[in-house]
Amino acid sequence: MDRIRLRGGRPLEGSIAIGGAKNAALPLMAASLLTGDTLTLSNVPHLADIATMAQLLQQHGVDVSMDGGPGNADRGTPEGRTIHLSAAKIESTLAPYDIVRKMRASVLVLGPLLARFGEAEVSLPGGCAIGTRPVDLHIMGLKALGAEINVENGYIKARAPKGLKGGVVRFPMVSVGATENLLMAATLAEGTTVLENAAREPEITDLAYCLVAMGAMIDGIGSEHLTIHGKPSLHGAQHRIVPDRIETGTFAAAVAICGGRVELLNTRLDLIESVSDKLREAGCDVEETARGIAIGRNGSRLKGVDFLTQPFPGFPTDMQAQVMAAMSVAEGASMITESIFENRFMHVPEMARMGANIVVHGASALVRGVPKLTGAPVMATDLRASVSLVLAGLAAEGETIVNRVYHLDRGYERLEEKLAACGAQIERLKD
Ligand code: UD1
Repeated sequence: MDRIRLRGGRPLEGSIAIGGAKNAALPLMAASLLTGDTLTLSNVPHLADIATMAQLLQQHGVDVSMDGGPGNADRGTPEGRTIHLSAAKIESTLAPYDIVRKMRASVLVLGPLLARFGEAEVSLPGGCAIGTRPVDLHIMGLKALGAEINVENGYIKARAPKGLKGGVVRFPMVSVGATENLLMAATLAEGTTVLENAAREPEITDLAYCLVAMGAMIDGIGSEHLTIHGKPSLHGAQHRIVPDRIETGTFAAAVAICGGRVELLNTRLDLIESVSDKLREAGCDVEETARGIAIGRNGSRLKGVDFLTQPFPGFPTDMQAQVMAAMSVAEGASMITESIFENRFMHVPEMARMGANIVVHGASALVRGVPKLTGAPVMATDLRASVSLVLAGLAAEGETIVNRVYHLDRGYERLEEKLAACGAQIERLKD
């Protein structure tokens, strides 16, 4: 298993190209199941999770082809990869355990398969490192559109022999995945569907715009109240994936920790305002540029700031660990509250091994900033926790080895190359 070795203490200077959003690409790829025509997605990041979704779709019978390479993203040219997906011939509506257990987002094929083919059998994703993460809201919503659903032998078995019917779904809590599944399913349901208390993450807005390009009728895009007027069929489209706001925020947090100044290319400030507000409060400069965002910190030490994770436009849970790494070396204390997942502080004991002073009380972590961390061998059990340890390593004196790099490869494309190009001492050790 590959590892990452780094030495902290150098400021970051230069530019980093941000890729397309993994969490937008996954539902968009699943949306290809809604039509027999070709859906072409550009700015697709080159990541392990994308390969997993491609594999899942291929075993359903989707023809998946890719062109373009990851190479040009670094030079600031906008195109990542382009994927062409054609679900003209579907061989199976079963999403097997072997693939779904690797990636929870596999459950996003449920709504599209059920809506277009009247049946789907999708393995339950099971637990994961950051909590139990049930799929009850996905099931509740699809039942409200007339699906018959049973959970048997670890599978969600869903049927709608006469097709789905529009209905009103009021989500008792905000769920990104459930909103995406219902939004996709409703585009082919008969009549009108209303989704209330829908998630409004930029990835959902991106999905909605792609569905509109495919012929769907959706009102309220970007709001928590979506109205979908079902169509008998959708058609092919071309769509460019929104920039990855979590990759953007992660590199912004890296600059907050290391100091220096970096321009993040092909991304937008409006995608990460809740994060950039906190980084400014902590003493960083963040500004929009013609090509993206510039972030810098010169001279003064970071200041501790409090934050609470919330659904968009609140502070993203997927940025909690990275900004905690920054707070661990800030002046003063920082109270960080995680309101989305119940078990998302696994990075805390690892940061403590590097000298961080963090106390967890239930859903809150009190971080008392220390002047410096010290390098150590560390590992984490999920994607964002892993990257937060890379950031902690950038703040640490001496050598840090981050083990289990495959978590990073699920969500960051060439992380070490991008940081090294800005002066970080970081390299991948191949095993
Ligand atoms: C998505 C993101 C993930 C991010 C999360 C929250 C993708 C591929 N993943 O995950 O990176 O951390 O949003 O922004 O886009 N819940 C239920 N029942 C359900 C569904 C969810 O109780 O049926 C709960 C979850 O356990 C969690 C909360 O709702 O506590 C939010 O989860 P959700 O928004 O659904 O996250 P995902 O879509 O899985």
